[in-house]
Amino acid sequence: MDWRAFFTQHRSTLESHYPGLTPHRFLREAEEIGGDGAAFLMGVPFAYQLGYAEFVHHKFTVTPDVLIPRSETEQLFELVDQAIKNHPAWRRLVDVGTGSGCLGLSLAHAHPMLSATLADISPAALAVAKENARKLGLHSVLFSEGDLLKDIVGLFDIIVTNPPYIPRSAQGVHAMTDRHEPHLALYVEDTQYEAFFMRLFDQSARRLTSDGMFFMEGHEDRLVECVQWAKAAKLTQVQIHKDLTGRLRFLTAQAPRAPLG
Ligand SMILES: C[S@@+](CC[C@H](N)C(=O)[O-])C[C@H]1O[C@@H](n2cnc3c(N)ncnc32)[C@H](O)[C@@H]1O
Repeated sequence: MDWRAFFTQHRSTLESHYPGLTPHRFLREAEEIGGDGAAFLMGVPFAYQLGYAEFVHHKFTVTPDVLIPRSETEQLFELVDQAIKNHPAWRRLVDVGTGSGCLGLSLAHAHPMLSATLADISPAALAVAKENARKLGLHSVLFSEGDLLKDIVGLFDIIVTNPPYIPRSAQGVHAMTDRHEPHLALYVEDTQYEAFFMRLFDQSARRLTSDGMFFMEGHEDRLVECVQWAKAAKLTQVQIHKDLTGRLRFLTAQAPRAPLG
């Protein structure tokens, strides 16, 4: 296949499907992916066509059942990674809404003393996370299928989560994401938004050890409200952190002052 000629012929379609695409990047991806180019014309993300995405230092298998790991989520990894270095006694971690497992598995790989649980409501996503755990040689990771932390027992030193956080009313802003990535990973109904995050904060407040910490990625327009909901759930030291583009992106919090009943 002459990918250079393909790019020249379909340039405007390709550039609308893949924002910021350069000819060099397209040629690099197309040479590796191969095929007849039909998937490029439909805007199928490169990672789904390749079957993997890079996150931190690893290649994670991705399928259309899981969100493609994003670069801003690597900054969430870094926040947690640094906190773990500052708390050498921490042992138990849960990654809620694990998808490909990129967050929980990268942290478990970097900190072998951690025992990690990966949780997701999607059995198909958990199957991908299991495959990634196997490929990283992380054989003692536990997996839990269910709604947030509802079916998970025990206390955790670290609760990390990149939950779905785009309000349904903003659906379609990123057309190719909307068309190709799992809506379960992206959207929360506007009418359920507060209830969903209150549930997450309340369950997390009840599952943190006394010096444990909660780490979350969220929506820049909704994080300020999330702070109020997290405080209402009795989490303490609730803070917002910006990502490298200056957007409000992460929320961290500490355990309640006294254990909740
Ligand atoms: C934004 S994706 C994050 C995936 C991965 N952690 C990452 O950072 O790339 C959110 C994940 O949460 C899962 N999810 C959605 N609703 C959930 C719920 N109520 N309980 C548990 N997981 C849920 C989705 O299946 C999806 O895998």
